[in-house]
Amino acid sequence: MLSVERLEQTLEARPFQYLETTASTNDVAMRWLLDGAPVGSIVTANEQVQGRGRLGRTWYAPPGTALMLSYVLRPAVDDLPYVGMAGAVAVLETIQALGMSGVGLKWPNDVQIDGRKVCGILPEATWQDGTLLGVVLGIGINVRIDFAGTAFAHTAISLEQRVPSLDRAELLAQLAERLDAWTARLSADELFERWRAGLVMLGRPVSITTVTGTITGTAEAVERQGALVVRDAHGVLQRVIAGDIALG
Ligand code: BTN
Repeated sequence: MLSVERLEQTLEARPFQYLETTASTNDVAMRWLLDGAPVGSIVTANEQVQGRGRLGRTWYAPPGTALMLSYVLRPAVDDLPYVGMAGAVAVLETIQALGMSGVGLKWPNDVQIDGRKVCGILPEATWQDGTLLGVVLGIGINVRIDFAGTAFAHTAISLEQRVPSLDRAELLAQLAERLDAWTARLSADELFERWRAGLVMLGRPVSITTVTGTITGTAEAVERQGALVVRDAHGVLQRVIAGDIALG
């Protein structure tokens, strides 16, 4: 059960807001950021009714079935490319610490268990007159969503399919500690190396849908700032910054 009382126990002194229902925790966190929220503040909710996903998609989970949070940070502009990586690595490690195997990353920042999506990540930045004011790092983890009979039955998974009766407040506290640690070291080579080591598709045939079309080939490498390098059917290296990747 997620509640203010339980979160006060697990998050201790960390500033947080808990909402039974909200449109999007990223929106609430963004307003709080602009209002002076300390770095590391967290907004979490039991239900989101206008949750956002990557590439303009919506992200929805029935009430009480997911861990949805937005984490406030104020990185240097040069470190922006690493915010999503920090989120992905923090979630990866938190899930591995539950004793689960088969946990990996699907470029850029989805977390998977045995090839099925368990977590999505959405960093959103805010600027004023060319100055970066901050970022909210939105994270949605499937904890006990029942995907049976849905379009996601074979592509998504919930943590409780592997480990029963998880305490979302405890999970949030574990994740928050890892977010603190990695967001304090955004430009560290170690973060990039952990992220790269977690990626499941390097060396494999892939198909990537981008705004300008589809690229098929072999995922050869990732660049330091996160771009994916794909060798296409003509042997030409293509650099992809954003898109949806699938096994080719
Ligand atoms: C994706 O997989 O496309 C990213 C999903 C991100 C969902 C989280 S839930 C908490 C935060 N608030 C939002 O509106 N979105 C993110």
